[in-house]
Amino acid sequence: MKDQLNRPLRDLRISVIDRCNLRCQYCMPKEIFGPDYPFLPPSELLTYEEIERIAKLFVQLGVEKIRLTGGEPLLRKDLPLLIERLVPLEGLNDIALTTNGIFLPKYADDLKKAGLKRVNISLDSINDELFGQMNGRNVGVTPVKKGIEAAKKAGLGIKINMVIKKGMNDSEIIPMATYCKENELELRFIEYMDVGSTNGWKMKDVITKREIYNQLQESFEFEPVEADYFGEVAKKYKYKDSNVVVGFITSVSESFCSSCTRARLSANGHLYTCLFNGNGHNIRDFMRQGATDTELLEYIRTIWRNRQDRYSDERKEEATTSRTKVEMSYIGG
Ligand code: GTP
Ligand code: 5AD
Ligand code: SF4
Ligand code: SF4
Repeated sequence: MKDQLNRPLRDLRISVIDRCNLRCQYCMPKEIFGPDYPFLPPSELLTYEEIERIAKLFVQLGVEKIRLTGGEPLLRKDLPLLIERLVPLEGLNDIALTTNGIFLPKYADDLKKAGLKRVNISLDSINDELFGQMNGRNVGVTPVKKGIEAAKKAGLGIKINMVIKKGMNDSEIIPMATYCKENELELRFIEYMDVGSTNGWKMKDVITKREIYNQLQESFEFEPVEADYFGEVAKKYKYKDSNVVVGFITSVSESFCSSCTRARLSANGHLYTCLFNGNGHNIRDFMRQGATDTELLEYIRTIWRNRQDRYSDERKEEATTSRTKVEMSYIGG
């Protein structure tokens, strides 16, 4: 099954909750996501039964990889129970979690036992004060480091995600690279993106892969590494003097829409065909109104076949980017 640009459906990113314990400025700025912010009530969230049912249909349609996201997915109660339900799906060969890591000391073992393979942990700075400012909650680096340790101990694969914003944490590129190299952690530098409509994104705040790479080359030597699979988001290198890998996620400077095989399911059961396309398809209500599996399959097939999204390619072509988008906390990146 291919979309209008000949791309198959291979990955499903499932957001399990729209809440987060942090308030990273580039994702959920605290001025907007304050105490009165109308987060989804529990009745709006897909249940684990519903997520399992939808995931099964997606796997039938070609999905091989599932990633659970949030908000912060570990704020959803009993997440290992969901993983246990998803792991046995025939045809699925990867199941991963994107998290800020803070609750991993509590859950890493249970997640691993449930069948989770790996975690991507967000960490934007190795400096307590700066990290505290960036996460909007004055949380220091230690809780995340403890999360990383717990994931390691549990035997989970780990990648570290660092979003770079100019004037904010570009001074942390070398310190983070040094920390991750020493601790044998794969670090991915992520270009700051114009997700959602609340982060006040400006092109001038973006530091591109080239700029990051040039900075790194003053301290380290690299060689390129092949992608692990078709459509992998990160462009990868390794240090010449170690096996540690460094990746770059270049959504802004070198978009990768032509190989984008990802669908996204929001916490309230809407299907999005692009991180930047705010036009969600309400699978949840269709399902709750009694749609059969056959009807749901046909619904998803039609949506995928009609898909034309290539926002990051178009961003370069357009003077403005004024369209309706979906908030990062609904869709999990
Ligand atoms: P791996 O399977 O480990 O390669 O994970 P991933 O990089 O696909 O997922 P992760 O949740 O760690 O996301 C890392 C960054 O890539 C985040 O900033 C995401 O928003 C971004 N990202 C992931 N998929 C896409 C995509 O399809 N388009 C764009 N523009 N960004 C994406
Ligand atoms: N630009 C780039 N990456 C972002 N993330 C959240 N907001 C943005 C943004 N504006 C990242 C998080 C997390 C992943 C799911 O998405 O840091 O690692
Ligand atoms: Fe929470 Fe992750 Fe968004 Fe930060 S980037 S506010 S940790 S969901
Ligand atoms: Fe896929 Fe949209 Fe990201 Fe392009 S911008 S890679 S189409 S999610």
